[in-house]
Amino acid sequence: MDIENRDDIEQLMRAFYAKAIPDPVIGHYFTEVIQMDLEKHLPVIIDFWETVLFGIAKYKSNAIAVHQHLHTKSAFEDKHFERWVSLFQATVDDLFEGEKATLAKQRALSIATVMKIKTIHGTSPIGH
Ligand code: HEM
Repeated sequence: MDIENRDDIEQLMRAFYAKAIPDPVIGHYFTEVIQMDLEKHLPVIIDFWETVLFGIAKYKSNAIAVHQHLHTKSAFEDKHFERWVSLFQATVDDLFEGEKATLAKQRALSIATVMKIKTIHGTSPIGH
């Protein structure tokens, strides 16, 4: 089954955080670097993915800036992004298949790559 609507994205994100929060490589960002309230965070991240996958203009904040701030609290390294992406891809593959599932995996990797460059390397790949 493919990712078709907001309920599917919620299912995906709950499954992702069930892996990410206890994860030995990135879990501390959610539990120690900040104490994330998952039930408050979920509507924001679901808006984000509705915007990315379905072009519904709901997410209006700046996810890169949020992670630049996290980077100042506890510096990101390549291994954190690699882990985040591999958990995300595995979660998509566990639950969904199809055009949107493939798009989600592609967008996750491309956004993670930009985020990595704008945090670890402090600059943009296109010169801004
Ligand atoms: C090293 C990998 C990553 C870690 C450890 C991480 C961790 C976090 C944490 C702790 C927050 C909550 C920040 C806060 O509320 O102050 C957050 C927010 C968020 N993350 Fe990540 N993240 C990572 C990569 C990504 C990637 C690659 C994406 C997108 C593809 C993403 C999308 C988001 C979004 C949309 C938010 C909400 C931003 C907002 O409040 O407007 N994250 N992340």
